Amino acid sequence: MSIIEKAVARLGDWSPATQRLGTAAEAAVTSEPDPAGESHASLSDISGARDGSIAAASKEHSERTLRYEEIDLVRLKEAGMVTPEGTRSQIFEEFRLIKRPLLKNALGQGPTPIQRGNLIMVTSCMPGEGKSFCSVNLAMSIAMEMDHTVLLVDADVAKPSIPRMLSIDGGLGLMDVLLEDHLPVSQALIRTNIDKLKLLTAGRHHPNATELLASGAMRELLDEMSSRYSDRIIIFDSPPLLATTESRVLASQMGQVVVVVEAGKTTQQNLREGLNHIESLENVSLLLNKTRFRGGSGYYGYGYGGYGYGYGYGAETSQGN
Ligand SMILES: Nc1ncnc2c1ncn2[C@@H]1O[C@H](COP(=O)(O)OP(=O)(O)OP(=O)(O)O)[C@@H](O)[C@H]1O
Ligand SMILES: [Mg+2]
Repeated sequence: MSIIEKAVARLGDWSPATQRLGTAAEAAVTSEPDPAGESHASLSDISGARDGSIAAASKEHSERTLRYEEIDLVRLKEAGMVTPEGTRSQIFEEFRLIKRPLLKNALGQGPTPIQRGNLIMVTSCMPGEGKSFCSVNLAMSIAMEMDHTVLLVDADVAKPSIPRMLSIDGGLGLMDVLLEDHLPVSQALIRTNIDKLKLLTAGRHHPNATELLASGAMRELLDEMSSRYSDRIIIFDSPPLLATTESRVLASQMGQVVVVVEAGKTTQQNLREGLNHIESLENVSLLLNKTRFRGGSGYYGYGYGGYGYGYGYGAETSQGN
């Protein structure tokens, strides 16, 4: 079985209706709002505390001390991305479908238990295929859920784009935590106007930023994050697989890897090569981005034209032969 066939097989339990995701910018109205979107429970930063009330008080205290940044939700919505106000949009529906199997795996409800399943890397073969777009949408979508809290990490350290996309300041971030022995990750986290969404930006510019992703310090940090924040889904917007070897090392330390494939642009050769580099990993999914549908209705259950996503294996870019 080829690597591509194996990737497809892993997505085998997806019905056609769940493999297609809808428009971004056009954001058509498709369904009723998700009641989960109205929930405002807060996060837990402290794992292992035995006394509930002490834990809750400590949590509130530590939450208050975090830097706060206001995500420009209006701009995000205008850009056709998932926002709390956009629960009737096509993009919201799309990412509701995309996140489902990832959450199942993260929560140990998938077919087999996954180590560090809560660490989800979003990557692609080449630059510009939609990694950041999908990372932000995935994180926003999960943060809308009643039961889940999310940490979005800008791990594309050589080319960070989360601050620009969310209209926030960069400040202290991943690089600072890796470079400064005594800076705990908790001090670099940012809380936002989305209750359940925290951010960790890329941090200071460093000439060897990408190399640091493959360092022992990063491995330790991932260990810490997966256990300390085990109740959190952690999404890593990451560098492309074919641009750096570090990205592949990073992938090997994740519980789940999502490879964004840009329809009509990602070549079969690049996809094959990219997947070959992570062949040994168990939990790799493909997310087909920017699929151009013919207008009209009913294609895999969605009636719209324009650009969209597919999750799984579809369209012309990913036929493995
Ligand atoms: N499905 C989509 N619909 C509309 N626009 C999209 C979609 N996916 C990506 N884009 C846009 O395409 C551009 C490239 O996307 P993005 O920045 O997410 O790619 P990337 O893989 O993170 O790139 P880089 O490798 O440079 O970090 C952005 O302007 C983004 O808004
Ligand atoms: Mg990016």
